[in-house]
Amino acid sequence: MLRLDYNNMMEAAVGSRGITEAELEALQGRFADAHTAMVSKRAAGKMDFRDLPRNQIAAAEEILDYVKETEARADMDVDAFVLLGIGGSALGPMAVQQAINNPYYNELSLEERGGHPKFYVADNVDPERLVYLFKTVDPKHCLFNVVSKSGSTSETMSQFMIIKELLERELGKEDTRKRIVCTTDQSNGNLIKIAREEGYKTFYIPAGVGGRFSQLCPVGLLPAAFCGIDILELLRGAAEMDDVCKRGNVRENPAYMYAALHYIAMGKGMNISVMMPYADSLKYISDWYAQLWAESLGKRYNTRGEEVFAGQTPVKALGVTDQHSQVQLYAEGPFDKLVVFLGVDEYREALTIPKSFGDVPSLGFLGGVTHNELINVERMATEYALQKAGRPSMTITLPKVDERGLGQLLYLFEAATAFAGELMGINAFDQPGVEEGKNAAYAYFGRPGYEEKKKELDARPAKSERYVI
Ligand code: PA5
Repeated sequence: MLRLDYNNMMEAAVGSRGITEAELEALQGRFADAHTAMVSKRAAGKMDFRDLPRNQIAAAEEILDYVKETEARADMDVDAFVLLGIGGSALGPMAVQQAINNPYYNELSLEERGGHPKFYVADNVDPERLVYLFKTVDPKHCLFNVVSKSGSTSETMSQFMIIKELLERELGKEDTRKRIVCTTDQSNGNLIKIAREEGYKTFYIPAGVGGRFSQLCPVGLLPAAFCGIDILELLRGAAEMDDVCKRGNVRENPAYMYAALHYIAMGKGMNISVMMPYADSLKYISDWYAQLWAESLGKRYNTRGEEVFAGQTPVKALGVTDQHSQVQLYAEGPFDKLVVFLGVDEYREALTIPKSFGDVPSLGFLGGVTHNELINVERMATEYALQKAGRPSMTITLPKVDERGLGQLLYLFEAATAFAGELMGINAFDQPGVEEGKNAAYAYFGRPGYEEKKKELDARPAKSERYVI
């Protein structure tokens, strides 16, 4: 199991800006209430992401069969799996693929990839993105996975429209059909309607599961399976973490403790939370987590409708790379952040530094040391430096980066985010601040139903001439 070490969050380690046992004790009542709310919401079907590790096993098995069949089809010859999705539909799949596979996965031969296709994610609508993708892979040899819960996300649906038209022009309708697989809501939205009309293969996102909490359903499981990732192990790891995260006592529940420490830290002005994995494989976990933490907890109103402007800004960093970039700020800058280190006990590869330059004192000491020791010692040294500078941090350590550990980690962060939402008294599962921008874009393009918004846009004062060239 992964472990959460929060010693360096405490006053005993970092001094006055740390958290005291008394502060943790004083919040026991609040923690108990938040736990009760978590339990009753889950029982009432209002926290459906929590059941995914167990109720998605059948979906995972269906996915594995589909992957096997598709890869065996001579008439498909799938060279690349291309995911069309954004936000919660893209960040998890990218993070899991990067964590488990060789970082140069797409450059490996088919055999080295275990017979699985290359993997690409097209999330942004920068026009260069798709054009360059099609200079890299042949769309006629791709399988396109359109992932959208709402089926109305302009970025995803516009990419789908471009690709569908292109494929139908080149391959005809019949052959296009087998190259498109949709992941969406089973009964609501445009995508399910289109998928049924066009006869596309479809996987479902459970109705009560929002984008950023959807990695453990077909949103994440389908792309992962096409990349040869053991999705049943991923679910197993998540289920193990679920068992731990059911515990009511904050001191025995890593998700609760993680959220509680962040909550207290926010109250002390630590409005920035840095996620710093010491493993290249976990770099994109920080991207996925940043969305989860930011979109879930950044809220103007609490659940009582009072203005609270809540939230904590997630910052992504990478150890050791960012020791040479950001750690100076973390150690000596404003006291507005806490750092979460992600460590790994056992890396999947080992590398020993040769005993060259033995007569150069500033290099000789490295001879015979492994990179495995070096990265872990550098993490420990950075933890120490921050502690000495009075900066709170905590460390989550995975025994190794594998599917089981990753399932535990993803689930830990999801449960922690939900618990933090309860402590903060906000709704962690909506995103009203994102809707305004989406609606303005719809209005700009004249989408029916957005006429009032268009008037609002048109009524904006003209921009003055404050330009600098
Ligand atoms: O977490 C979320 O809810 C969002 O990031 C969504 O995943 C994102 O906006 C994409 O939405 P959809 O799946 O409806 O296309």
